[in-house]
Amino acid sequence: MPTTLITGANRGIGFELARQLQTAGHDVIAVCRRSSAELDGLGVRVEAGIDITRRDDLQTLARRLSGVEIDWLINNAGVLRGSTLDAIEEQLDDFRLQYEVNALAPLRVTRALLGHLVDGGKVVIITSRMGSIADNTSGGQYAYRMSKAAVNTAGVSLAHELADRGIAVGLLHPGYVRTGMTGHTGHIDPDEAAAHLIQRIEELSLETTGSFRHANGEGLPW
Ligand SMILES: NC(=O)c1ccc[n+]([C@@H]2O[C@H](COP(=O)([O-])OP(=O)(O)OC[C@H]3O[C@@H](n4cnc5c(N)ncnc54)[C@H](OP(=O)(O)O)[C@@H]3O)[C@@H](O)[C@H]2O)c1
Repeated sequence: MPTTLITGANRGIGFELARQLQTAGHDVIAVCRRSSAELDGLGVRVEAGIDITRRDDLQTLARRLSGVEIDWLINNAGVLRGSTLDAIEEQLDDFRLQYEVNALAPLRVTRALLGHLVDGGKVVIITSRMGSIADNTSGGQYAYRMSKAAVNTAGVSLAHELADRGIAVGLLHPGYVRTGMTGHTGHIDPDEAAAHLIQRIEELSLETTGSFRHANGEGLPW
């Protein structure tokens, strides 16, 4: 059975990915800062105490996983804080936080766990269509958009770099999902988003590596 590591697995989309993949027979490693009652209730392996922006924590995670081989690495953890042009000077910490969590951390987590990833495995980044420059028809949300555009760039470079190990990299938008991030507004619930994402991850291959897709299967423009 495949082993799948998911960041941000204590709630939201990450929790649903953990739940559904466990049901599908994966050995799930649920990474989080702090576990939740629902995650503890799943009975999957939980690696808590990991802030994905902290180098020490990433080293700790890699150490704890000594001897573990990972088939799917799902970089799901993310953060959204509102940002505006007018308030940029007051919001600089939030701009930096979103860059740290949404853009840098998926790359750092992937690097930290590279030795655990099997050849022929998959690396997924849960990005957002808000990171699409071509699809930006409404403006605003500077920090979140910039961070997701940046991680899209990183994902394409990763796809090139990991291809010779047969590792495919997918950039997936989950849809507009009712989670804490959206104040529980949106078009779909996390269970539906997770089910669609899993279908897309199953389809992901070296032929489609580096692509940017909606969880509903549509390709998204950069
Ligand atoms: N919901 C949507 O409509 C939507 C749309 C497009 C893209 N996305 C993307 O989908 C992914 C999941 O979002 P969601 O809606 O499930 O959000 P969510 O319910 O707010 O969950 C976010 C998760 O990320 C974790 N996280 C944040 N900062 C972290 C850090 N520094 N270290 C470790 N974990 C951290 C959170 O952990 P804590 O509990 O410790 O805070 C939580 O588990 C994100 O990448 C998001 O950008 C969501």
